[in-house]
Amino acid sequence: MTTVAENRPRFEPEEALQLAQGLYGLRVSANELPSERDQNFLLSDESGGQYVLKIASSVEREEVLDLQNQAMEHLSASLATYSFPRPLPALQGNKIAVVPGRPGPRHFVRLLTYIPGRLFADVRPHSPALLRSLGEFYGAVDRSLLDFEHPAAERDLVWDLRHAHKTVGRYLEYAGDANRRALLQSFIRDFESTVIPLLGELRRSTVHNDGNDYNVLVGMAGDKIADLRVIGVLDFGDMLRSFLASDPAIAAAYAVLGKRDPLGAATAVVSGYHASLPLTEAELEVLPVLIIGRLATSVAVSAFQQAREPGNRYLSISEAQAWEALERLSAVHVRHAYYAFREACGMEPCPRSPSVVNWLREHQAEFAPVIDAGLTPPDVVPIDLSPGSLSLSDMTVLNDVDRFARWVDERVAEAGAKVGVGRYGESRLAYSEAQYLVERDWARESRTLHIGVDLFATPGTPVYAPIDGMVHSLANNSRRQDYGPTVIVEHRPQETAEPFFTLYGHLSLDSLAGLEPGRAVHRGDRIGSIGDCAVNGGWPPHLHFQIITDMLGREGDFPGVAPPGNRELWLSLCPDPNLVLRIPESVLRTERWNSAAILEVRGAHLSRTLSISYKRPVHIVRGFMQYLYDTDGRRYLDAVNNVPHVGHCHPRVVRAAQLQSSILNTNTRYLHENLARYAQRLCSRLPEPLRVCFFVNSGSEANDLALRLARTHTRCTDVVVIDGAYHGNLTSLIDISPYKFDGPGGTGAQPHVHKVPTPDLYRGLYREDEPQAAQKYGDFVDDAIARARNRGAGVAAFIGESIMSCAGQIVFPPGYLKHAYSKIRSAGGVCIADEVQVGFGRVGSHFWAFETQDVLPDIVTMGKPIGNGHPLGAVVTTPEVAASFVNGMEYFNTFGGNPVSCAVGLAVLDVIEEEELQSRAQLAGNRLRSGLQDLAGRHRILGDVRGLGLFLGVELVRDRESRDPAGDEAAYVAERMKEQGVLVSTDGPAHNVLKIKPPLAFNESDADLFVDTLDKILFEVS
Ligand SMILES: Cc1ncc(COP(=O)(O)O)c(C=O)c1O
Repeated sequence: MTTVAENRPRFEPEEALQLAQGLYGLRVSANELPSERDQNFLLSDESGGQYVLKIASSVEREEVLDLQNQAMEHLSASLATYSFPRPLPALQGNKIAVVPGRPGPRHFVRLLTYIPGRLFADVRPHSPALLRSLGEFYGAVDRSLLDFEHPAAERDLVWDLRHAHKTVGRYLEYAGDANRRALLQSFIRDFESTVIPLLGELRRSTVHNDGNDYNVLVGMAGDKIADLRVIGVLDFGDMLRSFLASDPAIAAAYAVLGKRDPLGAATAVVSGYHASLPLTEAELEVLPVLIIGRLATSVAVSAFQQAREPGNRYLSISEAQAWEALERLSAVHVRHAYYAFREACGMEPCPRSPSVVNWLREHQAEFAPVIDAGLTPPDVVPIDLSPGSLSLSDMTVLNDVDRFARWVDERVAEAGAKVGVGRYGESRLAYSEAQYLVERDWARESRTLHIGVDLFATPGTPVYAPIDGMVHSLANNSRRQDYGPTVIVEHRPQETAEPFFTLYGHLSLDSLAGLEPGRAVHRGDRIGSIGDCAVNGGWPPHLHFQIITDMLGREGDFPGVAPPGNRELWLSLCPDPNLVLRIPESVLRTERWNSAAILEVRGAHLSRTLSISYKRPVHIVRGFMQYLYDTDGRRYLDAVNNVPHVGHCHPRVVRAAQLQSSILNTNTRYLHENLARYAQRLCSRLPEPLRVCFFVNSGSEANDLALRLARTHTRCTDVVVIDGAYHGNLTSLIDISPYKFDGPGGTGAQPHVHKVPTPDLYRGLYREDEPQAAQKYGDFVDDAIARARNRGAGVAAFIGESIMSCAGQIVFPPGYLKHAYSKIRSAGGVCIADEVQVGFGRVGSHFWAFETQDVLPDIVTMGKPIGNGHPLGAVVTTPEVAASFVNGMEYFNTFGGNPVSCAVGLAVLDVIEEEELQSRAQLAGNRLRSGLQDLAGRHRILGDVRGLGLFLGVELVRDRESRDPAGDEAAYVAERMKEQGVLVSTDGPAHNVLKIKPPLAFNESDADLFVDTLDKILFEVS
């Protein structure tokens, strides 16, 4: 084999210009493009036209160039939605010309259209949709090429995957160290054992054969960042007739480069291809080997060429990445990849399983019990370890094996049962160790899906083989949260196509003593006993029993929990153990609604005005402190919910509610100390003279009552509000919420409402460098008062969120509220501080956010955090304002101030104080803020970082000069943060502000995780 460098044309740009003019009549400039074999020049003319001049290597045959030209024209004609280069005729009409008048070897030259786009290799990260689009593209190309024939397609090429095993074998000796050679040898074996026997079943066709990441072009299919899709391909130089499956294999081989999860990337490509051009079972089976085949060919050829041409960097361009990908892929069994491809193509993932399942069904009556106890009610009770498990009210029991074991024992005892059953196919929260985190490139995922059945019983309980077989393997998997002593038995009934296996985990140590692989086991034979917590991986004593239809080359161990993203695959590979255990379905059944069912009923019975966050909604079933958990057991760091102020389901608050609910819940017409204690306690947190409380059920109710108090006190009606503000969902509050009345569906300001501009130093009328901005913003209050007077009314109140939320996390310039308050008070109005979002220590430096403005409101309204999720709100005012309200009309609120709500409110205050949450908000907030500010140095999209304590906003802009809001990007970031396990949302008039207001349990390391995750995601939009 000659090296590519020996034949590569070496033309000067000057010569390219002459060729362009002489052959094609083009007056252009020329820039050389990188290429392996040909020499390519990008030609640009003055009117903006661009072309590619391709000078072929001296050994290139004319008919092969014609094959490429014909294929490009064929694809351009048949696939209008994609872009392909097209050959253009020379002045003489020919599409292949010869470089004229040059001494030395003959070179053919062609002029092709130029396609703009980004190279696949230059786009990072590759979204699943982009990877899928790569597969769809090649499926479309190959479908179109099914009827394309050309005599030159039958040719010998080192890149022909039909001979990959031979090519790799030929160059094996050049490939680095012994480990790498072993890896290539294992490919050769896989090729011989998997591809060769299926040769007769693999379709042949003319294929593009070079979907490498420097050939594939990416463009936008829409106007969103997430819309990046494959739009075409450049180089047709490797076309030939080969396996049809070559194209998806090669595209996938390059798609896996640089991926932590190469199988995930390859699967996305294969599923896309299958959607355009369905693959056969045989093709899917050989695909994993062909993918490795392309990478192996690439590293082997490159090793050989480098040996011939040391110092040629182009040759090693993807070599390091290819080796890395090969090494990662070699950790995935080829049949595992095959099953993953089948799963992604909608087939039964593990083709061996149906015959095993049938056999188990047909022979159920013959199986011996696995443990002595009967597995029928009342002797069995389900142990629900699912994320939404109502019996697992305190998930911290999972962190302590003694408590966990006691909890299981209590469930069994409560039901009067003998054995607890842990379900098959259940996602769980129990797997917290690092070994359960899965390598993924796009979204965070852990192994949470339980694919065996657990039988919780006392240590020492004998375990029996239910079916004849032979010991396959055994091991003590002694890591924490692993199986401990494990036995795997192989079963080979004649009627099943392949053997299957049963796994017995968490046994006693002595269970391993009397067994060795190969030993026969008869049904009913004792194979060990249940181990205790000390040896079983640190679990409550139980047997993990699992059926496995393909061991995928493993011994002594096999995953007992799997990533929920590949649910079908793992449930197919490991069928339901209840086929053997035969526990009545009534014991195992759960009545939980899945997301689809919930969405359907929401659609039918709930108003569509209730929005749902995220394009793919999250189905949350549990919260604890700063975390939320979905039905798959996926954990999210909650950076957006300020209602669970002291932490989701804080045990102290939960207990307070539980206890008081179990004793008494009435209304304020009876004496109860909780109401009095709570009023006293809340007032103690406020400055004098804010000493009179009203308890209500929401922030809206609080603001509505505040308006009534103000109006009664001043005998005026009009209200001054800040543009962009939101104060609640009642009619009276929509009227004073510009965020609503000026937003979609709104009907503008009522006559009694007077807006003043948002004092936004980043985007408002007066920016950060405006002298006396606070004063200037405050002066608008005078105009508002004048407007009220002009219509013959007086101003009852000025209402302001102490830091604005919906308006985009707006912190007022220092002195703003002071200025506004003094103007309102001189006009006879009262000042209302809406602390519904920001009160109770969130801002860190102070307990109330109004204190940061050094003002004293006449009325303070509270909601959200006050009850940590319990529907509670409060209004606190001065004795003077409160006195005006005593005009004969009773104020009665059925639920407001009830003993349960007050107990909850008291518990929230207790936790804030005992856990020093205010100063923790300051610490974590400072850390988060400075981390975010550092990101601004790296990401130009970060326009502004603002806020106090743990109430922060990050404003995204397309351009720092114009501050053009990046709303689409912000939505994308929030969606991607969710996929990475962090919840954040967007707000502001242009929806371009990331709003961060986590439970105060959010700590400094959470701040770091938030910043790191955002950093990663921002690279996707900058
Ligand atoms: C500043 C502010 N005030 C009042 C409310 C109304 O509170 P609720 O939804 O509890 O009625 C909200 C709700 O988002 C708010 O953000």
